[in-house]
Amino acid sequence: MKNTFSRKKKILKKFINTQKITKSFFNKRRKIIIEIGSGVGENLFFLSKKYKKNLVIGIEPFKNGLANTAYYCSTNKIKNIFLFPYVFQKFEKKYKNYCFDQCYIFFPDPWPKKRHHKRRLVNYQFLKLLISHCNSKGTIYFGSDNYDYFNDVKNKSKLLKKELKISIKSYKKTPTIITRYHARALKLKNNINFLKIDKI
Ligand SMILES: C[S@@+](CC[C@H](N)C(=O)[O-])C[C@H]1O[C@@H](n2cnc3c(N)ncnc32)[C@H](O)[C@@H]1O
Repeated sequence: MKNTFSRKKKILKKFINTQKITKSFFNKRRKIIIEIGSGVGENLFFLSKKYKKNLVIGIEPFKNGLANTAYYCSTNKIKNIFLFPYVFQKFEKKYKNYCFDQCYIFFPDPWPKKRHHKRRLVNYQFLKLLISHCNSKGTIYFGSDNYDYFNDVKNKSKLLKKELKISIKSYKKTPTIITRYHARALKLKNNINFLKIDKI
């Protein structure tokens, strides 16, 4: 078990050194899909197969998840997945002019206690900034099994609709695939909701 993990970590190191994200990615020649908090990578794998010509970037600080993603990519010879092994805030700083056509944020840490709500990744400012980096006709998908978080993101999006050209739709079903945390939420019979924000 320990051997498998250290092998996966070595593969991750090599993967990050060869599959490099460059600033030229954002010159709009190829469509960009980003996932913030890609976990162990199931959604990245699904997206890379569905959108073979697009560049799929997973932004994730969790080493085990990254190692799993890199291992799967190298054993399956997937060439259109790239990993940014730090938090999204660092990605924003490094690629100031980044843009994307699709962005996925599935089951971000919910921080259920009220006093911890300020730690939630998705808030008004975050959404506003994210929408400004979304290409026209692009989409942001958000999913959560914490109804308070989901409702808050939905309400913040409605507020932003007054100043930005966006449309908002809610769903009960995933737009892509059931991820690890989605499966966990189903098992716990949690109230799962998805939001689709389209830039017009
Ligand atoms: C609850 S897990 C969900 C993982 C996956 N999306 C899923 O549905 O199974 C939340 C993930 O977000 C990552 N995360 C937390 N803060 C982050 C940040 N600031 N930027 C990017 N990822 C973050 C965590 O490391 C974790 O893997």
